[in-house]
Amino acid sequence: MLRIGVIGLGYWGPLIARNVLAAPDAELAVLCDIDPARLERLAALYPGARLTQSAADVFEDGSVEAVAIATPALTHYSLARKGLQSGKDVLVEKPLAASAKQAEDLVTLAERERRVLMVDHVFLFSPAVQKLAGLLRDDEFGDIHFIDSVRVNLGIVQRDVSVVWDLAPHDLSIIDYLVGRPARGLVAVGSSPGAIGMPTVAYLHVDYGDDLLASVHVSWLSPVKIRHFLLGGSRKSALYNDLDPSEPVKIYDRGVDVTTDPERRREILVSYRTGAVVSPKVDKIEPLCNVVAHFCACIASRQRPLTDGRHGLRVVRLLEAADLSLARDSRYVEVEAA
Ligand SMILES: NC(=O)c1ccc[n+]([C@@H]2O[C@H](COP(=O)([O-])OP(=O)(O)OC[C@H]3O[C@@H](n4cnc5c(N)ncnc54)[C@H](O)[C@@H]3O)[C@@H](O)[C@H]2O)c1
Repeated sequence: MLRIGVIGLGYWGPLIARNVLAAPDAELAVLCDIDPARLERLAALYPGARLTQSAADVFEDGSVEAVAIATPALTHYSLARKGLQSGKDVLVEKPLAASAKQAEDLVTLAERERRVLMVDHVFLFSPAVQKLAGLLRDDEFGDIHFIDSVRVNLGIVQRDVSVVWDLAPHDLSIIDYLVGRPARGLVAVGSSPGAIGMPTVAYLHVDYGDDLLASVHVSWLSPVKIRHFLLGGSRKSALYNDLDPSEPVKIYDRGVDVTTDPERRREILVSYRTGAVVSPKVDKIEPLCNVVAHFCACIASRQRPLTDGRHGLRVVRLLEAADLSLARDSRYVEVEAA
């Protein structure tokens, strides 16, 4: 049994703890939070786990082989670094770190120490995103022309990070995975109504080259919750609606065919296809359960996770580029290849 410690028991950490406890090949060894009230709340649920207020105590515990870090974003780097230095395999929440320099350091350290470093980009483990990835592999969509991802609701306004660093990692990780090549650059537009001091609404336009533009809209201020991920292909298109549990993915045989005959082009530039809409079967599994299972499997086989440090680094590079674009009046910023 793989003995795992969970550090940070606010909103997300307890969900990780629940999935570690349920994993057949893992044992919930230690629970850690600097806040004793949060520890106490979980003590009744997990009587088998040791409780501590000190992350250092978890890292020093030789019987703990791996740690999951679910603390605020700005603490990820130092905690993940200490975890790797103590010989633990590490699952860290998104975003991997607060800068590309920090993320690079973690990637280098994990590779040097031969430790598993995985980022909880949880949507890559959702059956719906896996369905889209499978359809892309089968060339169902043709060339991807555009991606539009909207992730808005009346969200919890964070104190330490902007809406870009809080919500956009989800969209950017899905896009990175599905597109399969690094972005070239981006333009970001954001605003902070109400003088919160950092963006609470933002639009990122990410250039992947070859006429592929991905657009991400994130907001904490929307009165309605929307989770729409639209992927437009030359052959077919897809809508992934994370809020539709019965039909999260719909495939549209709709689009335009560009007229190539120069004579006909004078009359008609494009013709429209308005075919069927299909809703493929998508398994119902909690993505976080898949995250924990994948983390355990990578530790057992010493393999690189799907959302390894390099994937996390590519996402952090995009977030950093977005900050730079925002600071430069939405100028185009090139993204360094990870
Ligand atoms: N993958 C996802 O879908 C997803 C969803 C929600 C949150 N998150 C991420 O999870 C992380 C935590 O988010 P949250 O909403 O649970 O935050 P939260 O504020 O509710 O909880 C954070 C907890 O960490 C504890 N903590 C802070 N510093 C600590 C330290 N040094 N040692 C031990 N405990 C410490 C705090 O006391 C608190 O209980 C964030 O990075 C967030 O981005 C990910």
